Amino acid sequence: MTQALIFDTDPGIDDAMALFLILASPELDLLGVTTVFGNNGVGQTTANALHLLTVAERADVPVIAGAGAPLARVYKPSAARVHGEDGLGNIHLPPPARAATPWPGDAAGFIVDTVMQRPGEVTLLAVGALTNLALALQREPRIAEAARRVVIMGGAVFSRGNITPVAEANIYHDPEAARAVFGARWPVVLVGLDVTMRSTLTEADLAQLAAAGRPATDFIARIAPVYFAAYQVFGIEAIPLHDPSAVAYLLDPTLFETRTVSLYVECEGRCAGQTIADLYGVWAPLPDVEVCTGVDSSRLVSLLKHRLSA
Ligand code: RIB
Ligand code: CA
Repeated sequence: MTQALIFDTDPGIDDAMALFLILASPELDLLGVTTVFGNNGVGQTTANALHLLTVAERADVPVIAGAGAPLARVYKPSAARVHGEDGLGNIHLPPPARAATPWPGDAAGFIVDTVMQRPGEVTLLAVGALTNLALALQREPRIAEAARRVVIMGGAVFSRGNITPVAEANIYHDPEAARAVFGARWPVVLVGLDVTMRSTLTEADLAQLAAAGRPATDFIARIAPVYFAAYQVFGIEAIPLHDPSAVAYLLDPTLFETRTVSLYVECEGRCAGQTIADLYGVWAPLPDVEVCTGVDSSRLVSLLKHRLSA
C-alpha cells in the first residue's frame, strides 16, 4: 500500500537526497512539499525545493512556502559552511522555473487542509525546524488525530548534538515548536543523530552514485563536495545521511531499532534544543516518542544507492 506523504523540508544537501529518494520510491505518494527556514532562509529553501523538483522532472508536485522564523525566537542562519551559501553546494543555480503554489495559511494551511481531507492517511515527514507543524496544530488541533503519524529527522537523545554540544539543529532552530509537536496526540517517530550519524556515504559511494548518470545522481555529485568538506573538518571522511534516514524509516522500518521514551525538550538557556529521555519518569507527565536507537547502516546505504541509481 502506498503511503501518502507531505515532506516538510529546508533544502539543504541532505534534504535534496531525501527528496530524490522519496521520488524514487513507488511506495510513497508525495502530496506536496512544504518549506521552512533552517539550512537557509525560507525564500532560498523554497527556491531550492522548486529547483530539485525540476531536476527530478516532477514539477507537478506543489511546493508551498512556510515559516521564515521560529515561533518565539530570532532565526540566525548558520549552515552556509555545511550546505553552501545557497543551501545547495554553491552551484549558482538560476532562479527556479516556476513559483511556489499560493495556499491560504501557507504551509501550515496546506498541512491542515490535506490532513483533514484524508483522515488517517497522511504521514508528515519533517526534516527541518518543526515550525510549520506547530503552526498547523495551532490552526487546527484536530490534525493530531487525523494525521497517520509524524516522522521527524531531529534530536540527539542518546548522543551529543551537532549545532551545540547538546542540541541537534532542527530541534534547536525552534524548540518551542518541537515541544508542541512532540506533545500532540499523534504518533511521533524520531530519526535523530543517534542513528543518522551512523549511516554515511564515503567518497567511493559518491563516485558510484555519480557513475549512475541519472539526473538526481548527477545533481548530488554537483552539490555533495561542500557537504563532504564540512565534515572533513571534523575528521569525518564521509557524509551523514540525516534526512534520507527519515525517508528510509518510511520505506523499511526494520532497518531501525527503536525505543519509546518520555521526551523532554529544553527551551531555556544554553541547553535549548536538547532532547532528553526521562527514563525514570521523574519529570512526568511527558509525551511518549518512539526514538530510533539503532540502524543497519549498510542496508540503509544500499537502499539509498540502489533507489537513486535505478
Ligand atoms: O541536524 C541535521 C539536520 O539539520 C538535517 O535536517 C539537515 O538538513 C539540517 O537541517
Ligand atoms: Ca533538513
